[in-house]
Amino acid sequence: MDKDFLWGGAVAANQCEGAYLADGKGLTLTDLLPDANHGRWEALKDLNKALETTYEYYPSHEAIDFYHHYKEDIALFAEMGFKTFRTSINWTRIFPNGDEKEPNEEGLAFYDSIFDECLKYGIEPLVTINHFDTPFALYQNYGGWKNRKLVDFYLNYCKAVFNRFKDKVKYWLTFNEINMIIHLPIVGGFIDLKNESNLEQVKYQAAHHQLLASALATKLAHEINPEFKIGCMLGAGKTYAHTCHPEDVWKAYNADRKDYFFIDVQVRGYYPSYSKRFFKENNITLDIQDGDLEVLREHTVDFISLSYYSSRLTSADPKMNDKTDGNIVPSMKNQYLEVSEWGWQIDPLGLRITLNELYDRYQKPLFIVENGLGAIDSPDENFYVEDDYRIAYHREHIKAMKAAIEDGVELWGYTTWGCIDIVSASNGEMSKRYGFIYVDLDNEGNGTRKRYKKKSFDWYKNVIATNGEEL
Ligand code: BG6
Repeated sequence: MDKDFLWGGAVAANQCEGAYLADGKGLTLTDLLPDANHGRWEALKDLNKALETTYEYYPSHEAIDFYHHYKEDIALFAEMGFKTFRTSINWTRIFPNGDEKEPNEEGLAFYDSIFDECLKYGIEPLVTINHFDTPFALYQNYGGWKNRKLVDFYLNYCKAVFNRFKDKVKYWLTFNEINMIIHLPIVGGFIDLKNESNLEQVKYQAAHHQLLASALATKLAHEINPEFKIGCMLGAGKTYAHTCHPEDVWKAYNADRKDYFFIDVQVRGYYPSYSKRFFKENNITLDIQDGDLEVLREHTVDFISLSYYSSRLTSADPKMNDKTDGNIVPSMKNQYLEVSEWGWQIDPLGLRITLNELYDRYQKPLFIVENGLGAIDSPDENFYVEDDYRIAYHREHIKAMKAAIEDGVELWGYTTWGCIDIVSASNGEMSKRYGFIYVDLDNEGNGTRKRYKKKSFDWYKNVIATNGEEL
C-alpha cells in the first residue's frame, strides 16, 4: 500500500450533528422526518401530509450531538490514526434558506473549528458539499432541484465555503451519491414527484441541474485554489446477471449504465451516446441551455469517489422476484451471499469487481468513501461491544480493496462509513450501527450520548498503523 494512502472514516452532517436550529441553522429534509417505525417511509412518499403531522421524535434534531462533541470525537479518530475524516457541510448552516446572498458566519465558524481540530492531528478533511441536505426553503419556494435556480444557489454556497476553507480543505465531493436523484428523488434532489405526469422527465432535468452545478463548482474550485481535488460520488455496486441468458446479461448491463450515466458525464464531460435512446424512449427532452454542454465538457472531476455496501443482482424474468434490501436500490437475492440484519448482501469480491470496472471505464483515481456493516450491537454492562462481525466485514473488504490495487487500480483512500455510530439515513434509527465507537443512544432518543470504544476500534487502529498489513 502506498505510504500516503488515506485511511479514515466518514459521516454526514445531517446524521450526526444534531443542534438542528443552533446558531441560525435552517431546516432540511431529515429535520422533518421521524424514524422508520413512526412513518419515515410514508412521509417520504407524501411530504406535504408529513408536514402537517407532528411526530413524537425527530432523530436528526439532536442525533449524537456531534455539534457539541466534535473535539472528543475527532480526538478518538486521531487515536485510531485516521489520515482523513470525511464529513459534510450542512448547507442550511451556511445558507439557512438557501437563497440568501450572504453566508451565516456562525455556520462557517463551526466548520472552521471542525477542520482546525482535524488539522491539529494531521487529519486531512474530506468534505461533501451536499449530502442529502438541500435547504427545505428551496423545496418550498422553488420546488428543489427540478428548478434551475438551484444551480446558482448551490454555486453561491460553494463560493462561500471554497473561499473560507481554501487553506484547510483540499478534497471536496460535489454531491453525495449523485445517482440517488433517479432512485429516490426526494432525498437526492428534494423534489416531489407526486403531481408530475412524466416522472423521468422531471428526474433527469433535475439530474442535469446537479451535473451542471457539479461542473460549475469544479470550475470555481479550481479557480479559487488550483490545488483543490474535486470528486464525484457514486452509490456503487456491480449488478450481476442472474443467469448467463443474454436477456439477463443485457438487463444487468443496463442497470449499471443507469448509474454510470452520471459518472460518464462528470468524468468524460458529455452525455453518453446510449442516453439518446433512453431519453427518446422515455419522452425526456432536457432543457439544456446555451453553454451548458461546454461547461460539462471543460470541467470534469479530478477523481471518482464511491460508496460500496454490496453488489446487486437482476433478472429479465418477471417471475424472479425474490428481492432483498440494499443501499438505494433493492436487489434480487443472491444465493451465494450472506446478508446483514437489514438484508444487505455481503460481497467483498464485488468490491474488487466494482473498483476494477470503474477504473477500466474511466482511468481516474478512485476513493472509497463509504463501506461498512450496519448491525445491531449488544454492549455489555460496561458498554463494551465485541463486534467481531464488523471486523470480519471490514477485513474481507480491505483484502478485496488491496487485491484491486494489485490489479492496477489507483486508489487514494478508504473511509469506513459511520466510523462513530450515527442515525441511519434510510430508517432514521440508531440501532443500525456502523461505528468503531459506540454511542449510548436508542431509537427513541434515550441515552447519555456517551462514547465507548468497541473491539473494532483497536482492530482498525492496528490496520492503519500497519498500513493494511495486519488485518
Ligand atoms: C449511503 C449514504 O447511501 O448509505 C449514507 O450516503 C447512509 O448517508 C449510508 O447512511 C448507509 O445507509 P443507512 O440507511 O444504513 O444509513
